[in-house]
Amino acid sequence: MTSPTPDPATPYGTLPPTAAPALRKPISLPRLLEMHARGEKITMLTAYDATFAAVADAAGVDCILVGDSLGMVCQGLSSTVGVTLETMRYHVESVARGLRRSQATAWLIGDLPFGAYHESKEQALRSAAVLMQAGAHMVKLEGGGWTAETVRFLVERGIPVCAHLGLTPQTVHALGGYRVQGKTAESATLLKLQAHALQDAGATLLVLEMVPAALSAELTSELLHCPTIGIGAGSGTAGQVLVLHDMLGVNLGKMPKFVRNFMLGAPGIREAMHAYVSAVKDGTFPDNSQHAW
Ligand code: KIV
Repeated sequence: MTSPTPDPATPYGTLPPTAAPALRKPISLPRLLEMHARGEKITMLTAYDATFAAVADAAGVDCILVGDSLGMVCQGLSSTVGVTLETMRYHVESVARGLRRSQATAWLIGDLPFGAYHESKEQALRSAAVLMQAGAHMVKLEGGGWTAETVRFLVERGIPVCAHLGLTPQTVHALGGYRVQGKTAESATLLKLQAHALQDAGATLLVLEMVPAALSAELTSELLHCPTIGIGAGSGTAGQVLVLHDMLGVNLGKMPKFVRNFMLGAPGIREAMHAYVSAVKDGTFPDNSQHAW
């Protein structure tokens, strides 16, 4: 039996409407903002190694996040709190290498881990420099008002920042578990104030995790210069992010309710990633009716 001839256009075989890497324009910050202004949904997926990052890029994912979720899905930790800056550097460098080798176009975001930006804005700059020199285009950090000064400091020094509000996994112990945030009027008001402060400080993407759909939709329409990327935050955000292992249905823990297993019905991983991209772009994922909040 002969094996199928690989499609010369991509090293990963034929993918429906996604252009070959050489034909796609690199994703930049202005392009992400343009997509948002045009109403095109932004797709983001986590990846932690060279191969999966390149496959995600070939499937048309706009942004690859090397998330500190790697502590749970790669290292077997019970939370992201134990992830170190050196571990993040290693994975960002691996992903960046994989993206370069495959002439990828995705925007690469590196997560600053717990303890790497909490002490001072100078410490945050040193940590961000480690991830940027490993190949990240942008860093992500979690938290509300207290991070605004740090965000401004990094942005002023040429480091694009993605903020992260709602359920912030690095503070899971303080939050009392992986729970929906912003459900009460008081907590929703606080979240809105924090989001505006982060936009004003120069954050150019904002992850909203496990936030009521109505609240994230409202924030999305208010934050004109900072597209929101939802995870368990309904369909009204400017884009979506999922943890790779969750959307491939291989999460060893409890699958969050908002996750869709894109492997169901897909012949392979490339096609599952492509289905995710298509579903986000055409607005069929997520489905607000499946939200309990
Ligand atoms: O670490 C991560 O993967 C994340 C996403 C869940 C947004 O922060």
